[in-house]
Amino acid sequence: MTLARPVADALPGVNSFTAVQLLRVARLFAADPELPALLPARHEDPGGRRWHQLAQTHHLQLWVIEWPSGASTGFHDHGGSRGAFTVVRGVLTESQVVRGAIHDRSLPAGEGRTFGPNHVHDVANDGDVTALSVHAYSPRLDQMTHYDLVGGALVPAGVEQRGESW
Ligand SMILES: [Fe+2]
Repeated sequence: MTLARPVADALPGVNSFTAVQLLRVARLFAADPELPALLPARHEDPGGRRWHQLAQTHHLQLWVIEWPSGASTGFHDHGGSRGAFTVVRGVLTESQVVRGAIHDRSLPAGEGRTFGPNHVHDVANDGDVTALSVHAYSPRLDQMTHYDLVGGALVPAGVEQRGESW
């Protein structure tokens, strides 16, 4: 899949994408029926998720992720990147902590979500069916901080850098 470079090149002078633009690009890739075939044969993490980077420039990065039932990311930020994702198959649940309480949002296939640079969330497949989603970030993800939820507050638990696992 080589669409991201033409998308970026078609917008000379544009060096970042809005969250809404990212969702549109994610949906463009999500329409590709060959997406599942791009996933690696082995599972990438102990939770059973598999992923494949669809494209990367400094300003735009796209992933397809497969989520078996029960898989979740835990709470994390995106290192200051804006982002968007769309569910291709199954149902994902996005959780946020607002004033000490967890708020869940169910996202069935076809639904999408945009977020800004300070967004912290947990994304999980709480359903019985393996889910598939496409994620877009601008600028590309260089680091993510993971958080523990302690007494209703998000406490930084570790930082993951680009190159370690993605
Ligand atoms: Fe995320």
